[in-house]
Amino acid sequence: MRERYDRIRVEPVTGALGAEIHGVDLAHELDNETYSEISDAFLDHLVLFFRDQKLTPEQHKDFGRRFGALHVHPLTEGMPGHPEIVEVVKEADELHNWGDGWHTDLPFLAEPPMGSILYARDVPPFSGDTHFANMYLAYETLSDTMQGLIGGLKCIFHGKVANYSRFAGMTAIENGGDFSAAHPIVRTHPVTGRRALYLQRTTGRSIEGMSAKESAAILGFLWDHAENPDFSCRFRWRANSIAMWDNRCTQHRVSADYFCSERNFPPMRRHLHRVTVEGDRPY
Ligand SMILES: [Fe+2]
Repeated sequence: MRERYDRIRVEPVTGALGAEIHGVDLAHELDNETYSEISDAFLDHLVLFFRDQKLTPEQHKDFGRRFGALHVHPLTEGMPGHPEIVEVVKEADELHNWGDGWHTDLPFLAEPPMGSILYARDVPPFSGDTHFANMYLAYETLSDTMQGLIGGLKCIFHGKVANYSRFAGMTAIENGGDFSAAHPIVRTHPVTGRRALYLQRTTGRSIEGMSAKESAAILGFLWDHAENPDFSCRFRWRANSIAMWDNRCTQHRVSADYFCSERNFPPMRRHLHRVTVEGDRPY
C-alpha cells in the first residue's frame, strides 16, 4: 500500500475495496506524478471513484489511454464517432440493467479487458447503484486446502450466454463472433502478483475436464463465497461521477432496483459512458 499521496486525496470507501479520489480534474492531461499516484491508488483499492468531473468523450478516452490501449467491445455498438465508448443505457421503462448479476467483464475473450472507466452522464436521483467486490479477498479467505484444490483448474467461459440483445437501450452486434475461452479460476494479477478468484456466474459454468455436476458443485460454492457482502462496496451515482475498476481482481454488478410500479416512483432512465482498457491473457 502506498503510504503518502501529495497530488490527490484518497478516501477509502469500505474495508474491502474502493476509494474516492479528491483533488484532481480529469479533463486535463495528468502530469506524471499525479498519474503515478492514481495508478498506485488503483492497484491498492481496486476501484476508484471520482465526483464532479466534466469530460468530453475525447477527454474520457484520453484519460483511459493513460492506462493502456482502448478496447472496442465486440458485441455491442459503440457511440457514433467513438467506437471505444459503450453507451450504457437503461431505458425508463426497463426494470433491469445491462450487468445486474455479479460478473467480471468479458471473461470469454482470450484477453479480457484490464479495466473500465464508467462515467455517468444522466442518472436517476437514486437506484442503479453499482456494487464492486474484491476477488483477492475472496481467494485469500478460502482454506489452504480449498486453495490447493482449485489451484490448477480452468473455467470455460462462453460469450453467447451474455445475450446482449435483451436490453432495449443497447445495440447488440448480432454477428460479432462466438467467443469462448478457458482461464484459470485462480488468477495471478500481472502487476501486484497477488492471486484472485476469476469467476463469472453467467458465462462461466463449466470447469475443464470435469462433469457438469462436478463443475456446478465447485463453481456454485465459489460464486456464493465470492458474493459475500463483506468483500464489497457500493457506489451511488450522480451525474459526472466516475467509477474505474480493475477487471482482473474484482467483480461488479448493478442494482436492478427500479420497482416503479410497486413503489410509485416515476420511470427513470440511466445513461453512462464506458471506456475500456485492453488487458492480457489471464494466468
Ligand atoms: Fe460489467
